[in-house]
Amino acid sequence: MAQLFPKWTNRLPILVLAGLVFLLVFIVFIFWYYATPKYLEVGYRPEQPVPYSHKLHAGDMGMDCRYCHTNVEQSAHANVPSTQTCMNCHTNVATESEKLLLVRESWASGKPIEWVRVHSLPDYAYFDHSAHITAGVGCESCHGNVAAMEVVEQKKPLSMGWCLDCHREPEMHLRPREDITKMNWTPPPDQMDFAKKIIEEKNISPPTDCSGCHR
Ligand code: HEC
Ligand code: HEC
Ligand code: HEC
Ligand code: HEC
Ligand code: HEC
Repeated sequence: MAQLFPKWTNRLPILVLAGLVFLLVFIVFIFWYYATPKYLEVGYRPEQPVPYSHKLHAGDMGMDCRYCHTNVEQSAHANVPSTQTCMNCHTNVATESEKLLLVRESWASGKPIEWVRVHSLPDYAYFDHSAHITAGVGCESCHGNVAAMEVVEQKKPLSMGWCLDCHREPEMHLRPREDITKMNWTPPPDQMDFAKKIIEEKNISPPTDCSGCHR
């Protein structure tokens, strides 16, 4: 008797099943790929080995960011301070505090405190603090109001789209150099005029071509 369907159709159910499994994996992958790096890291707030508070030191006490992050104006990477910087004060202040036990141990042993990294770009993306600070982009534009944080938290997605949004229209993010570490800064009414002038003076031109950030 002649076959009603060609022989290969026997494999149809298994093909459909394989297709469905592939589709499911694909959807999960897309979701993971797009959702994870770009959105879920906002709010990342790891616990640190020492309960150091930016709110107390940089907020209430009004310490400038550059007292501790000394390299931020000169180099690509901002440094986290050494234990010695803390001991400038803590040899005299709160010397018995439990919360500073690890700091005193680190000072005695010479082993650095193992702070947990909060912000981190993949290696294939190039970023340079000094270029941004020199152009007049404030810490707050990229890190939020750190001086109000008990524990540092990632406030911006650090995604390519986020970088490019500012690179295409940096005007509202450029400040006078002396305001670079100021928190709660808002652009004054004449910001556009100021930005135009400063962009011309300093010849500011943020890269939007691929090789600008992928070198
Ligand atoms: C007394 C020293 C001190 C001062 C002042 C200070 N910081 Fe920090 N900062 C630290 C230490 C220590 C860490 C690492 C531990 C942590 O994340 O809390 C840190 C971490 C950070 C991080 C997270 C780094 C990462 O791992 O991604 C940012 C961003 C930051 N500081 C910005 C600022 C800004 C902005 C100011 C000024 C408003 C400031 N800091 C003032 C000591 C300081
Ligand atoms: C300019 C001086 C100064 C520097 C530098 C400094 N601190 Fe402090 N720190 C203080 C003062 C003042 C207090 C409040 C002390 C109190 O409340 O008795 C304090 C409080 C603290 C406390 C809370 C202590 C407690 O028992 O409540 C911790 C933890 C701390 N600092 C960690 C650090 C670390 C870590 C560094 C270095 C990254 C650092 N501090 C650098 C002045 C400083
Ligand atoms: C234009 C955005 C931008 C500005 C402005 C900016 N940062 Fe950052 N910051 C970043 C990015 C992005 C990273 C992660 C860099 C990486 O992984 O290579 C970072 C990382 C850091 C770190 C961790 C160490 C490092 O270099 O990776 C510290 C500390 C820090 N920033 C402090 C500051 C301080 C203090 C200021 C202001 C004086 C500032 N930043 C201004 C975007 C910025
Ligand atoms: C809030 C605004 C803003 C954000 C956000 C921002 N940038 Fe920029 N960026 C600038 C400005 C302004 C310049 C121009 C500096 C100049 O031309 O003097 C610049 C310049 C650069 C340069 C050229 C530096 C050099 O040495 O030539 C690189 C690379 C760069 N940005 C990478 C990044 C990356 C990567 C991100 C995201 C993680 C980012 N930027 C986020 C404003 C920003
Ligand atoms: C202003 C800086 C900047 C420019 C310009 C830029 N990129 Fe990126 N790119 C980034 C950053 C930062 C990341 C890391 C983003 C993340 O972790 O999600 C990235 C990630 C990527 C990725 C990894 C996939 C992803 O989305 O995570 C690819 C591919 C890529 N860029 C290609 C390009 C191409 C092609 C161009 C030119 C059309 C370009 N980039 C221009 C900053 C930039």
